Amino acid sequence: ATTNLARPTSLKFKAVPHYTGNEMVVAEGYTAKAFLHLGEPLVDGIEAFRDDRQHSGESFMYRMGDNHDGMHFFGMTGGKYDANQSNRGLLAINHEYTNDNLHPMGMYTQEDANAAPIYRKKRLAMDVRRDAHAHGVSVVELVRKNNGQFELVKNSRFNKRHTSNSAVTLAGVASGHDLVQTKFDKKGKTTWGINNECGAGMSPWGTFLTTEENFLNVFARGEDKDIIGKQADIALARYGLKENSTGGGYLWHTADDKEGVVADEFSRWDITARGKTAHEDYRHGFNAFGYIVEIDPFNPQARAVKRTSLGRFAHENCAFAPPVAGKPVVFYMGDDARGEYIYKFVSKAVWSPKDIGKGLKAGDKYMNEGTLYVAVFHADGTGEWRRLAMDTVKHKDYNFKDQADIVIHARLAADALGATKMDRPEWVSVSPITGEVYVTLTNNSKRSTDATDAANPRSYNDKGNQHGHIIRWHEQNGDHTATRFNWDVYLFAAPNDLTEQNLSNLSADNDLSSPDGLYFDPRGVLWIQTDDGAYTETTNCMLLAALPNRVGDGKIVSTTTGKNTPVGMMASDDTLKRFFVGPKGCEVTGITMTPDLKTLFINIQHPGEDHPDVAWGAVAGGKIPRSATVMITKNDGGVILGESL
Ligand code: FEO
Ligand code: CA
Ligand code: CA
Repeated sequence: ATTNLARPTSLKFKAVPHYTGNEMVVAEGYTAKAFLHLGEPLVDGIEAFRDDRQHSGESFMYRMGDNHDGMHFFGMTGGKYDANQSNRGLLAINHEYTNDNLHPMGMYTQEDANAAPIYRKKRLAMDVRRDAHAHGVSVVELVRKNNGQFELVKNSRFNKRHTSNSAVTLAGVASGHDLVQTKFDKKGKTTWGINNECGAGMSPWGTFLTTEENFLNVFARGEDKDIIGKQADIALARYGLKENSTGGGYLWHTADDKEGVVADEFSRWDITARGKTAHEDYRHGFNAFGYIVEIDPFNPQARAVKRTSLGRFAHENCAFAPPVAGKPVVFYMGDDARGEYIYKFVSKAVWSPKDIGKGLKAGDKYMNEGTLYVAVFHADGTGEWRRLAMDTVKHKDYNFKDQADIVIHARLAADALGATKMDRPEWVSVSPITGEVYVTLTNNSKRSTDATDAANPRSYNDKGNQHGHIIRWHEQNGDHTATRFNWDVYLFAAPNDLTEQNLSNLSADNDLSSPDGLYFDPRGVLWIQTDDGAYTETTNCMLLAALPNRVGDGKIVSTTTGKNTPVGMMASDDTLKRFFVGPKGCEVTGITMTPDLKTLFINIQHPGEDHPDVAWGAVAGGKIPRSATVMITKNDGGVILGESL
């Protein structure tokens, strides 16, 4: 079956209106069906998920985890990666976190939910183990049925969970370094767990690239400045872990295995320096988190590998530029926190298409050695990439020892280089048609009116940039290894009736807030997902389709904060349209398609958050809403958006 890869010239489906109900709504002519819910067993011998959620923590090593996020579909033929296969494949899915709300949802028992972080001093070992195992990645084998929908191949040898309790390899420039040596591995070559997998990507050679974003949440630190010294204290504070803090309050370090005994399994989340040396405690445990992590879905025996050379920060996702034989491989990445940066990594090795299918060996070749850059956006619409290296970085308070120190503390190095502080960089995606790079800047409540700049120009009413925007750039001469680029703002998100903020002329058919997930499909259709805290009175989170123009095709718009900004997108309904709206309280995130473009997969994360009446995704007769994957197919069995061709 050949696929028509032509990009539609206009969007012909009927836009989905604003919606605040408890179900999901997809454009007419399409069907959306949920599967792979939280807790679903991947093998026989594990009981079905129950609404009372009283399952053992260990059982989550064999069930779907919680809060589905980024994902990728890998076609498979004969047990091997086949980029053209659409009827059978491996879906690798991130599980970002576990819900910690007062509202009973996800996998928390009511007792545990009632004991929310501010009240909670100590946690039960089984609850922590359940949490840790519900984080990470699920790899599942799927097969397409005659009706065009997929189902899980239970007991497939490829079905595999990678969790916050799995042993993981540390590769790249920081592997073996003093700063990642712990009691767990005194050589610093391995660590224990992947955590807070957020957006996703794949590599050009066919592996899954997952990310560690809000790993801060599961760590705690007591008083140890006198032991570790001022330099280490500066570094920990820059990553959010000052003395006497408990990150995001998960308190994994408080669980007792037996009365009065905190096992290593739990104590490793407490990085307080206590021993005589770093080999006797977990003071460096925090430094082993915050990386791009590579998983070979076709090799379920292999450990996940943390690719440290790509830098350590709150990784949202990882997008590669279309690889060119004989040229370096380039990856783009955002650091999702207020005022953080956008990075790119350029491999030392040059691309050979013969490496497709070579798994982690190819990862070793392209991701362990290379150059890390951070983005600077100038007011005149140009920009530059500044190199993070010993000869370029001079920090006024922190003395870098070597390149490993630089990648482990990439934020400090980027500070010293004068990188541009962005409004929370979320997903990056590269247009397969133009090679232009797009990044969602989801919002920034802390962007003060007097600290706006051309690339982050909006701040209103002491609420900062509430609705977010999408920035994009064109690398000089279309070369992704270039150190100069031209940029503009593709789209300002805003409610359509907020004239002052609605700089892209959005209508009720395509207005949005807080763009987050972002994905160019192989035709060059741009899909935009939202994770909204500012517009949910009017509509639940959504998925939109867009047909972008080129960098520089827009016009200069003057914002109320006095910044002149080039704006690429003046929306019309046939170049940006709402395609899907999720159930109340959810985030719509994670996106991938089968190669024939007949199935679009998205994820519904935390349905019903703060809305106890929502039971979306619950077991039959149950009340507890659950995160799940949704497959969208066209009712006539055709290509998604085929009606627009
Ligand atoms: Fe996990 Fe930045 O979203
Ligand atoms: Ca996100
Ligand atoms: Ca978000």
